[in-house]
Amino acid sequence: MVDRDGPLAPTQQEEDAPLESSLRPRRLEQYFGQERIKENLRISIEAAQKRGEPLDHLLFHGPPGLGKTTLAMIVAAEMGVSIRITSGPALERAGDLASLLTSLQAGDVLFIDEIHRLSLPVEEVLYPAMEDFSVDIILGKGPKARDVRLKLNRFTLVGATTRFALVSQPLRDRFGAAYRMDFYDEPALQQIVTRSAQVLGCRIQPDGIAEIARRSRGTARVANRLLRRVRDYAEVRADGVITSEVADLALQQLQIDELGLDQMDRDLLSLMADRFDGGPVGLETLAAAVSEESDTIMDVYEPYLLKLGFLLRTPRGRVLTRLGYAHLGIDVGRAPQRGLFDAEAFEEQER
Ligand SMILES: Nc1ncnc2c1ncn2[C@@H]1O[C@H](COP(=O)(O)OP(=O)(O)OP(=O)(O)O)[C@@H](O)[C@H]1O
Ligand SMILES: [Mg+2]
Repeated sequence: MVDRDGPLAPTQQEEDAPLESSLRPRRLEQYFGQERIKENLRISIEAAQKRGEPLDHLLFHGPPGLGKTTLAMIVAAEMGVSIRITSGPALERAGDLASLLTSLQAGDVLFIDEIHRLSLPVEEVLYPAMEDFSVDIILGKGPKARDVRLKLNRFTLVGATTRFALVSQPLRDRFGAAYRMDFYDEPALQQIVTRSAQVLGCRIQPDGIAEIARRSRGTARVANRLLRRVRDYAEVRADGVITSEVADLALQQLQIDELGLDQMDRDLLSLMADRFDGGPVGLETLAAAVSEESDTIMDVYEPYLLKLGFLLRTPRGRVLTRLGYAHLGIDVGRAPQRGLFDAEAFEEQER
């Protein structure tokens, strides 16, 4: 059966929302990892400040929980400006966006999450706003209606998306820079866990930090979530101190394996092996087989399995690799390996 209470389950994300925001770093120096992006941002911010201008529009893309929203907030804080937060699905009509835009103060950051989900009429309001800092609105109704062009204060748009491929070309072109967020390496995750443990006031040993970091799927949000679950376990089943042993027991209890994979990841892999003979199998078929939304599989589960090299995305569907089989404890000499398909090119196109 599918375990829907795993560490990546959507419901748990909502339940943890207040705690998540308390763990959010507020300044660039508390934001660990993503060094290249941070360095580029530091340069852009300093240059913009020297010129006394707002920052160019920015687009952050990558899997969930890597810190896109956090970074948008930090950009505003570093620029010393206010941030307004909205999302693609929340902006239903062109008028919603137009009134938001006209309310921005000079230099403000407008953050649009899930920007790939803007409707076309709303997106079309954004084009002149981003380019010329103006919006065209229609005043009045019927034959008396007339077009009026309103000048906006200069602002910075920060967009975030887990689906770069679904951001239209005209929209992409209007960003001054687009940054792809990467999964975190272990040292960065250790820094994140260390800081979060301080914020939460947890007693944790260095080997406990390392254990949690190692099993966090390269994801900041998962690292924080595992830390909280392990803390619960330490308080109830141990003496409150998180050692590597306590962390390991707690994570076993949560069915999180050595690599940080949960039950759903393993279900996906074993289904591919058992029922689909390693693939290729279509995303929809796979999603139906594990009773999960195909979007959730594509956004939440697949990216890390792809990164581990357990799965490949091919034009004909998903394929389980030799490494994927090995993780299930199945030795198959002839299973496909990385490089068999032109997977990289295909992934690039799907992104
Ligand atoms: N670089 C970082 N350093 C420290 N903590 C981080 C970092 N990135 C993210 N976090 C933590 O991870 C949590 C999740 O990050 P965030 O909400 O910014 O991710 P996201 O990329 O916007 O995810 P989604 O795509 O689901 O919206 C934050 O609350 C924050 O505590
Ligand atoms: Mg976000």
